[in-house]
Amino acid sequence: MAVIPKLKLSGMEKAMPVIGMGTASFPMADLETTKAAVLEAIKAGYRHFDTAFAYGSETALGQAVVEALRLGLIESRSDLFITTKLWASFTDPSQIVPACKMSLQNLKVEYVDMYLIHWPVRLTEMVRKTPVPVEIVKPLDIKGAWKGMEECVNLGLTKGIGVSNFSIKTLDQLLSTAKIPPTLNQVEMNPYWQQKKLREFCKERGVHVTAYSPLGANNTKWGDDRILGNEVLADIAKARGKTTAQVALRWVYEQGVSIASKSFNKERMAQNLQIFDWCLSDQDLQKISQLPQAKGVTLASILGPHPLVLEIDADL
Ligand SMILES: NC(=O)c1ccc[n+]([C@@H]2O[C@H](COP(=O)([O-])OP(=O)(O)OC[C@H]3O[C@@H](n4cnc5c(N)ncnc54)[C@H](OP(=O)(O)O)[C@@H]3O)[C@@H](O)[C@H]2O)c1
Repeated sequence: MAVIPKLKLSGMEKAMPVIGMGTASFPMADLETTKAAVLEAIKAGYRHFDTAFAYGSETALGQAVVEALRLGLIESRSDLFITTKLWASFTDPSQIVPACKMSLQNLKVEYVDMYLIHWPVRLTEMVRKTPVPVEIVKPLDIKGAWKGMEECVNLGLTKGIGVSNFSIKTLDQLLSTAKIPPTLNQVEMNPYWQQKKLREFCKERGVHVTAYSPLGANNTKWGDDRILGNEVLADIAKARGKTTAQVALRWVYEQGVSIASKSFNKERMAQNLQIFDWCLSDQDLQKISQLPQAKGVTLASILGPHPLVLEIDADL
């Protein structure tokens, strides 16, 4: 079984495995498929799982954890680092603690290790379908929402709190009001969207960065093959006897960033863990640093091209 390095995060007792298994699938996998993939991932050595209310994968992950305990694959719930996220429909300050409790109920756990604000936006209604009507898209009350997040920590519902898809501007606003600073910011990051400025800002302010869609989210509605089909990365992979996916993941890891990557395939999920006993050369890093930059994941592709949504995308 693969051994995954762990990271000590500010303000947190439990260290976080640097690579977590993502559970957002497209089209959304059914409960049994997701549950089987999580069990397979635990067997392969994954101990960090990334879910969200919006992915519809919390229940499957929770059932897989129960099953993993029953099978003796893990000794206790505390062997796992579980991250989930507050959906934009629940970001009114009064809704945050109940939303966190709902996620815990779905996950069948008493606490999560990390609770993140999924997107810096508020939807005034619960949505079952996207895109959403423009009139329900409102700015996030950052101060109020963060108080709700801090309350989740104070109530023991989560060990740590953080954000996702927060730009420098939004993070700066949050840092000026937070009593408990955000532990991490989970954002899109891969060789094609390297996030240099945001990473520098986060480093200065003690906020860890986690990369999502490190493989470009190939074969999903929100991604494409610009990483896995890239010739520069493929050439580096060939020269090192690795796969293009491993080169992309290793590159993220070498930037001091943790990873949320998704594979529900037994071979590929195992392959994605084989990135810790080799390194990229200076020449490889130089080539990757010269790749053209383009953001892949946009909120507009999910919620619709509304003015506020486009503003959030432009800042990220
Ligand atoms: N905070 C946010 O707003 C946000 C947004 C997007 C994603 N996320 C999180 O980040 C996780 C990962 O991001 P992602 O799912 O968007 O994209 P990703 O991990 O970059 O890519 C996933 C895709 O790559 C394929 N894949 C995985 N390993 C591979 C390999 N070794 N070789 C070839 N193909 C491979 C997967 O297919 P198979 O499953 O068939 O292997 C899947 O189609 C998500 O699941 C979610 O938990 C968060």
